[in-house]
Amino acid sequence: MEKIVIDGGYALSGKVDISGMKNAAVAVIFAAVVSSGVCVIDNLPEISDVADCLAILQSVGARVRMLSRNKVEIDATDIRDMEAPLELVRKIRASYYLAGAMLGRFGKVKVGLPGGCNFGVRPIDLHVKAFEMLGATVDLSGGCIDAFAEGGLKGAHIYFDSCSVGATINAIIAAVMAEGLTVIENPAKEPHIVDVANFLSACGADIRGAGTSVIKIYGGKPLHGCEYAIIPDMIEAGTFMVAAAATKGGLYINGVIPKHLEPISSKLREMGVKVEEYDQAVMVTAGKRLSPANVKTLAYPGFPTDMHPQMAVLLCLADGPSHLNETIWNNRFRYVEELQRMGAKIRVSDRTAYFEGNTVFTPSVVKAVDLRAGAAMVLAALATEGRTVIEDIMLIERGYDDIVSKFRAVGANIRKVDFPDHATNTFFSEIKI
Ligand code: EPU
Repeated sequence: MEKIVIDGGYALSGKVDISGMKNAAVAVIFAAVVSSGVCVIDNLPEISDVADCLAILQSVGARVRMLSRNKVEIDATDIRDMEAPLELVRKIRASYYLAGAMLGRFGKVKVGLPGGCNFGVRPIDLHVKAFEMLGATVDLSGGCIDAFAEGGLKGAHIYFDSCSVGATINAIIAAVMAEGLTVIENPAKEPHIVDVANFLSACGADIRGAGTSVIKIYGGKPLHGCEYAIIPDMIEAGTFMVAAAATKGGLYINGVIPKHLEPISSKLREMGVKVEEYDQAVMVTAGKRLSPANVKTLAYPGFPTDMHPQMAVLLCLADGPSHLNETIWNNRFRYVEELQRMGAKIRVSDRTAYFEGNTVFTPSVVKAVDLRAGAAMVLAALATEGRTVIEDIMLIERGYDDIVSKFRAVGANIRKVDFPDHATNTFFSEIKI
């Protein structure tokens, strides 16, 4: 079983290059299904969620060819309206985009309900609503999204009464194949929504207003192939920004869109961290003291829920009490128990975590309970003198491209180790990193 071993307590410094955004990549890969040409997608992060998306596409007949580590060619011309294997679909959340893409292309789809990180209930009613507005009949009984639109999808007026990244992207992908005008009101505005719209536009779709509160799609146009590069991952960048602050170091975080990082940058500045913006980079330098702060997660451009556990590590280290209110996922607090194992003083009540601050973490054996919680364990371990071992790291590898090498390159004592099942504490302490 592979684990990450970290001997922490050292200030990180140097330059780190940010990979393509996971949540844009997984959507663009499935969006390629509605194009009837060859799509070359560049700047893909090398992560297991992307590998799973590509495997799902292959399973329904797409031709998928890796051109390099980060570049793939997808030809969905010969794709068929067949079911993808359930064990693949259930591995990831993003497989729900296959529903929008197949429904748009074939007027029917049957795809298993998606998996993904466990944050409690993860409903798909808004996705279903969008498909129904576009003229589909949707049946969810039997653990599948089973949808059918007699004569194909038709443009419609879709109003979302709450913001959903996934439902917005699914509505866009389906609507580019629907005949006529679709208007999406109150869509999510995350940078990856704009990225998917830009990709589809590069294939010939007519989409206006992505990233604003009204998106208009003039659907039914034939879509061709294109070459497209995925935007940088603001959550990976944010994780390294917190690493610089948590280890009292300084990192030049390269290949980012600083505007996308604003919600994170402004919170770090409030805590006394220096964040300098360049054209495609940010330089993050720890300040003399780390002030407490209160954080509330919100849809973009609010503070991202996918930075919640990482920010929690910083709030533990701040020199006074802070709190963090989670408004997106009701069960995002599973990292708390793991940080408590490292000595953090955190209390959770009614979707808010209260941090005592001034924590001196103690090294421990902890688990990555989900993707971002796993990233938080890495950050806490980097800030902690002594050896921390992180288990269940495949959850981290779902979304972070080569996190171990990237941290090593900026001075971290971090290594991935294949432990025998019977590994003991003595075994942990004897590993050389
Ligand atoms: N919601 C509904 N009904 C729906 C869909 C969502 O009530 O039909 C609710 C959810 O329960 C949640 C809120 O709306 O309270 C937002 O959910 P959203 O649909 O925006 O989330 P998602 O599309 O399932 C994506 C990311 C998540 C990220 C969220 C929020 C992907 C593949 N996943 O999930 O990313 O947390 O948006 O920004 O894009 C991660 O990368 O670690 C991750 C979990």
